[in-house]
Amino acid sequence: MVEYRKLHLRRIQNMEKQFKRTTVTSALPYANGGVHIGHLAGVYVPADIYVRYLRLKGEEVMFVGGSDEHGVPVTQRARKEGITPQQVVDRYHKMIKDSFEEFGISFDVYSRTTSPTHHKFASDFFRKLYDDGKLIEKTTKQFYDEQTGTFKTDRDIVGECPHCHAEANGDQCEKCGRDLDPTELINPRSKESGARLVLRDTTNWFLPLNDYEGWLKQWILDGHKEWRSNVYGQCKSWLDMELQPRAMTRDLDWGIPVPVEGAEGKVLYVWFDAPIGYISNTKELCEGNPERWGNWQRWWQDEDTRLVHFIGKDNIVFHCIIFPVMMKAHGGYIMPDNVPANEFLNLEGDKISTSRNWAVWLHEYLVDFPGKQDVLRYALTASAPETKDNDFTWAEFQARNNNELVAVYGNFVNRALQLTQKYYDGIVPPCGTLTDYDRQTIAEFKDVKAKVEALLDVFKFRDAQKEAMNLARIGNKYIADCEPWKVVKTDPERVKTVINISLQLTANLAIAFEPFLPFSSKKLYGMLNVEALGWDNLGSTELIKPGHQLAKPELLFEKIEDEAIQKQMDRLARIKKENEAANYKPADVKKEVAYDDFEKLDIRVGTVLSCERVKKSSKLLKFEIADGMENRTILSGIAQYYAPEDLVGRQVCFIANFPPRKMMGLESQGMILSAVNYDGSLSVITPQREVKPGSQVS
Ligand code: MF3
Ligand code: ZN
Repeated sequence: MVEYRKLHLRRIQNMEKQFKRTTVTSALPYANGGVHIGHLAGVYVPADIYVRYLRLKGEEVMFVGGSDEHGVPVTQRARKEGITPQQVVDRYHKMIKDSFEEFGISFDVYSRTTSPTHHKFASDFFRKLYDDGKLIEKTTKQFYDEQTGTFKTDRDIVGECPHCHAEANGDQCEKCGRDLDPTELINPRSKESGARLVLRDTTNWFLPLNDYEGWLKQWILDGHKEWRSNVYGQCKSWLDMELQPRAMTRDLDWGIPVPVEGAEGKVLYVWFDAPIGYISNTKELCEGNPERWGNWQRWWQDEDTRLVHFIGKDNIVFHCIIFPVMMKAHGGYIMPDNVPANEFLNLEGDKISTSRNWAVWLHEYLVDFPGKQDVLRYALTASAPETKDNDFTWAEFQARNNNELVAVYGNFVNRALQLTQKYYDGIVPPCGTLTDYDRQTIAEFKDVKAKVEALLDVFKFRDAQKEAMNLARIGNKYIADCEPWKVVKTDPERVKTVINISLQLTANLAIAFEPFLPFSSKKLYGMLNVEALGWDNLGSTELIKPGHQLAKPELLFEKIEDEAIQKQMDRLARIKKENEAANYKPADVKKEVAYDDFEKLDIRVGTVLSCERVKKSSKLLKFEIADGMENRTILSGIAQYYAPEDLVGRQVCFIANFPPRKMMGLESQGMILSAVNYDGSLSVITPQREVKPGSQVS
């Protein structure tokens, strides 16, 4: 209760600011790969819930998205695939755009940073900063590849880590996790050509972030204490360190040319141009339909506009410090009012990774779960990483679907609609006199509106979705308690009231879930045979008029079977194996030993006479080995990797002079040698040509 009161107050504070409209942006994804559940959970689903909610309330809102098509990741991908950067971004822009559409991410504009509008806009933005003397020119030493005649960015450099001596990237060592400056690397080389790199002077333009420190502290640390604690905390730790000037241009050939004489071969830093993409995409939308949207300045330069950036936590510094400083230095722009950044979503306990293919890709999901966009939206919001990193598991996905969407929401709706069909041929019955219990139920579900709003207004999407689900729980309890199937025999008038109230509740569910599960709401409106209803109707008990004819009911959600989940788990297991195999590095070579020490071991070849599992042991196999002498029994822990009968008649190597050892009540007279594969599996060593049993290995 205290919690709600607090939230509500904050909302009133915002309302006092009386914003007239909201510009909502979501991070522009790099067009160098597809979109996965981490993107969706962290950025696009919450942003979409938020804009759908505002639209439903009838507020003026614009939802801006687009692809981030410059930057080193794109050129790396192009190099890896042997195609041009433009081909890379063309392919992935389309793929990303399609995925977003399929999942109902309702952008008003989804453009790209290679568009002519954007190139011009970003270029002009830079030029104004340059002309106004807001940038400083600095010459620094950068690594240069004399073979290709190009400067290298941190991520294009590899070398030996000065701390742990593993091979590391120019910006970070993955082995020991330390951040690095490429000049610290031992033997820096080009990732592309392998050539040794030399340091060379280069001039670039820097944004003096340090000059804005006082302003930033006041604006964020004093002025935005309501920001999520992870966002506020990260800003604070940046502002507690001394900010440094940051280069806004790079020596690269993929990007927007620096619009300054003598800057040939240089482009705008990708983190300079990309956020400007929000503005240029807005401009593109406005110019395409000025009657609907007005001019772009309304959305970016009017104090009555509220700006909200949805991002992942790795983007916080760019959206809370660098981009605001860019806009401040330029002048005329509004600042973000909030930056609801999410933490990361993991997949089955491991960090999602594009390069390791450890992800659930949206386009693949839809192949396996056609039509189930809302199920994923629901599951991702339910475990959204709002305050800490969170884990997506297929088991939880299945449980959310089966135990919540099917068993709670779907079940209630289905009962209400089916009973209407059964008793009244699908025609809405009138509501008679209310009982105390009816009134109590109605009061409970009227509460839901305020609760959901209070939560959505402060970006608590998980909790808001829970409240919406609560409405269905109220409905299930109501029908179960009223037992219309019994009462129909004794008091048919009473049943009319119960069904009427249940149908009103059903319509309320369609409204409450619309921001979260737009496809299902649409379907539900179809079954109710009504047009979509606005947010203000939430809580009303007069949405579906008596006498109204409903459409034929269908199931809103269907159960997901174990096989479908197992298939996903198998896929992940396969990927994990492939990754382990690809990343296998042999163990370090052991300390030197003298030949004498080796000679002390008596290694011999024997032929397997019989082989069987040891009772009550999952690991051990019992061998009878012909050793050219009296034969011997050896136990070996390889039962997981072989069927015993497959080994009979094969030759194996064993150590013949170990002292006998008791295991599981049996005596083992030696040890069979196996190779240990990357995944820990064992493979018995066999001589390449058959030899006499008892032959020695040397
Ligand atoms: N492409 C960046 C990323 O995926 C996000 C860019 S957001 C923008 O991390 F503000 F620069 F557009
Ligand atoms: Zn290291």
